[in-house]
Amino acid sequence: MDDGAAAERANREQLPLASFEESRRAIEAASRFMPGGVSSNFRLGMVPHPLVMERSDGPYLFDVDGNRLIDYYLGMGPMILGHNPPAIRQAVIAQLERGLLYGAQSRLEAEVAELFCAMVPCAEKLRFTSSGSEAVQAALRLARAATGRRVIIKFEGHYHGWFDNILLSVAATPANGGDAAHPNRNPGSAGQDETAWGSVEVLTWNDLPGLQARLAVGDVAGVIMESAMCNAGAILPGAGYLQGVREACTKAGTVLIFDEVVTGFRVAPGGAQQVFGVTPDLATFGKCLANGFPVAAVAGRADLLDCFVSGAVHGGTYNAQPVAMAATLATLRELADGKVIAAIAPHGKRLMEGIASHLKEAGITASVAGFPQIFHVAFGLSQPATHYRDLLEMDRARYIRFCGELLKRRVRILERGAWFLSAAHDAGVIDETLAAVADAAQVVA
Ligand SMILES: Cc1ncc(COP(=O)(O)O)c(C=O)c1O
Repeated sequence: MDDGAAAERANREQLPLASFEESRRAIEAASRFMPGGVSSNFRLGMVPHPLVMERSDGPYLFDVDGNRLIDYYLGMGPMILGHNPPAIRQAVIAQLERGLLYGAQSRLEAEVAELFCAMVPCAEKLRFTSSGSEAVQAALRLARAATGRRVIIKFEGHYHGWFDNILLSVAATPANGGDAAHPNRNPGSAGQDETAWGSVEVLTWNDLPGLQARLAVGDVAGVIMESAMCNAGAILPGAGYLQGVREACTKAGTVLIFDEVVTGFRVAPGGAQQVFGVTPDLATFGKCLANGFPVAAVAGRADLLDCFVSGAVHGGTYNAQPVAMAATLATLRELADGKVIAAIAPHGKRLMEGIASHLKEAGITASVAGFPQIFHVAFGLSQPATHYRDLLEMDRARYIRFCGELLKRRVRILERGAWFLSAAHDAGVIDETLAAVADAAQVVA
């Protein structure tokens, strides 16, 4: 730790526990006009309540109570370069001088597309969308258009956005999950149209024989999966699983779709498909693609993407919005050579090891698993999970208490267990975080 970081740490040690009263009042006031005072359901469950921010910079958020928080939420994942990085800011400001929305093409988006295709193994062509959920919809439409089949297979515990046809068995419980080998289909929301998911089947991920048997019927349009599970918990593909899935899909004429909305441009410049050496037919991207701007994409085989010219429809007023494209180009240029992502790894590893050792010292059983750039802490598991059902053993209530204790110590983590790192999380930030983790672990032990 350098002198500055040591002084900072000493200052922080003298700080009283943080209070979030002003945020609470602001959320209560906003609730008059916005349901729950928020703009996404996934912000409702934050502890102790949703927070209201004033600004962000590097690894920090600054809230309306005057707290400076070390941030591992990172906007739910996108801020791989940290908050408000100069390269993105400058690119955006330059584009603002040239206009906001053309209702036409810009040279900028073709430039982004070329760089994207150079980085991502499966990407021969791509189509931009404004959110990951939309990119998934575009991928499902392409799979059905190209194969002339209807059935889509997804996996229990995998999240692919909030739309009616795919928000299925995302958070199955022992009560509603059914047989682990043949999971029930459970809609994730009130108001979901069951006819929308009539042709979607839910299987168990990391079970190759189960998938092979189903694909052999020959009627499946597409298989969609998080190629490394990062939402419900961190679960990596078993040895040979993705290769086996790839072969089975090729044999069955089924389109293999990796949902890389979390892993894309985070675990490697070419995403999880680069890390695991398995190339899908299509992949969806979002989050880190534009470091905070609403940009996503479906990318993959040219013949599949060209279905958008020969009959499949995909629209969107804001697709490839020029200011967002300026941010995307600047982000990809920062990430393209892999150095930024590689430089996050040692900090992530140290954080993972430090968390594991502080929890152990406090007598808390926990597994810390995933990638150094996005990992999960699962209380109650002594081994990393290999199947979604393993995650049902997690001690969620204690983890939520841990989140609350960390937040009081000005470290903000996701309640569901994920920790996102950015290029701005340097050694001093990790030191501070681990000091807070040690204290919080003792409190919840
Ligand atoms: C794997 C995955 N797919 C799709 C989505 C949906 O993306 P968005 O929230 O941009 O609609 C998410 C969002 O968290 C995700 O994690």
